[in-house]
Amino acid sequence: MHVMDGFVESEPLAKARSYEEHMEAFIDLADRPCFHLSSYVGWMNDPNGFSYYKGEYHLFYQYSPYKTTWAPMHWGHAVSKDLLTWRNLPCALAPDMPYDEYNGCFSGSAIELPDGQLLLMYTGAGANGKRKDGSPRECQTQCLAVGDGVNFQKYEGNPVIDASSLPEGSSSEHFRDPKIWREEDGTYWAALANLGPDKSGQIVLYRSEDAFSWQFDRVLSRNRGRYGIMWECPDLFKLDGKDVLLLSPQDMLPEGHEFYSGNGTLCIVGHLDQQSGELVEETVSSIDHGIDFYATQTLLTPDGRRVMVAWMQNWDATAGLMRARSWFGQMATPRELSVRNGRLYQWPIRELEGLRMNQIVHNGITVDENPIALEGVCGRVVDLLVDIRPEDEGDLYKEFVIWFAQDSRFHSSVRYRPAHGSLEVSRIHAGSRRAYVHHRKCNVPGAPAKLSLRLVLDKYSVEVFANDGIRAMSMTIPTEVTADAITFSCKGRAVLDVEKYDLAKSVDA
Ligand code: FRU
Repeated sequence: MHVMDGFVESEPLAKARSYEEHMEAFIDLADRPCFHLSSYVGWMNDPNGFSYYKGEYHLFYQYSPYKTTWAPMHWGHAVSKDLLTWRNLPCALAPDMPYDEYNGCFSGSAIELPDGQLLLMYTGAGANGKRKDGSPRECQTQCLAVGDGVNFQKYEGNPVIDASSLPEGSSSEHFRDPKIWREEDGTYWAALANLGPDKSGQIVLYRSEDAFSWQFDRVLSRNRGRYGIMWECPDLFKLDGKDVLLLSPQDMLPEGHEFYSGNGTLCIVGHLDQQSGELVEETVSSIDHGIDFYATQTLLTPDGRRVMVAWMQNWDATAGLMRARSWFGQMATPRELSVRNGRLYQWPIRELEGLRMNQIVHNGITVDENPIALEGVCGRVVDLLVDIRPEDEGDLYKEFVIWFAQDSRFHSSVRYRPAHGSLEVSRIHAGSRRAYVHHRKCNVPGAPAKLSLRLVLDKYSVEVFANDGIRAMSMTIPTEVTADAITFSCKGRAVLDVEKYDLAKSVDA
């Protein structure tokens, strides 16, 4: 079927699009996050192709429309003017070529070409040869598709990068997730994740004059067995005078309260070595210290903000989840990034404040061990700001807790212990019947006695930001939205200032 000049909808793409049309009637918006993008139908993982194009933000995502578990990947697609109110567009890519039809169109990114078209650069997960057990061996190559913001034609020269251009011994099975950008001199660059000759992750850079013909440039950063094994989803950018590399390692080992086992996230703040071009690491930390946060991707907004999105989920938890809904997977709230004193700070995009309504303020509230509710402070789609300080500077409280998504049976919590500076999120009692991770701790640098917390709730998730965003912790919660109480308690005595807003979808975005 011809949809636009030169664009032919393949059978797998046409099938996905007509399935979406058919499912539209069954989509219950009331049962979805309000301002977090969730999969249209079926399964969502990584954000892809996060870009600003023809006056709108485009956010694509790893997508399996027909079921709520991972299956050969399509690219789902949505657009927004404020990064919070999303309009779904038809499925953008489907596995339909020899180089991507084995496991699908894996993660990638997007950029506007000088001729006004939008270029998608993604990993084709094809197959090449067989493993010892006879199963096909996956072969990952980098591919392009060009389009008008709705329909994308795969490039006839695909794949444009394969593993033969990598340093000897690098893997062709683990070579993925191109993040493309353009330098001021007009050259295109792409950062890619790869398993290096030492069987440990490495980030490699490619360069191109025209975005179609690519040359290997250099290895930017090497894991050397330190942070997990394979690295995924790299993103490299300059911010506040530093070079910042974000990535998502697989198979992490725990380290204090900074890193946990499983899939994690990593922020390397450093500078590019003048001679080798390698990234010299100054600080290395988790990006988000909560439970559900992976596969970040950033863009630069037209007004110059570096904004990050991520999949608000954790791979190891996805297998055990009960899927009562027709969708699975949502993105984290887009966050504005900054670097101060070598550390990454993140804060919900300022557009979120445009969704605030029904302001409630309570100042100077003393809290002790008896949990208290404050008039008007409840809800599941909420922006909650809480400043906590000891009642008596000489008598530090032991532990302060915000309980939320609460009813007589269920609750989740955020807990702060100033003596250790430890901040903990817990969903132990949120209603999960599965035995995956239900709580996480991190340290707030400086262990301040005075702490400012911001909780962003959107039905089935909470994102916690501490002290200006020096720490962020994200977690999904399964609790029914009728559990909407919020209460406060303290071992010892603390004084609170509380500001609370309901958040509503903007109508004119
Ligand atoms: C990260 C990831 C990517 C890959 C995609 C496949 O979550 O494993 O490396 O491109 O998911 O869906």
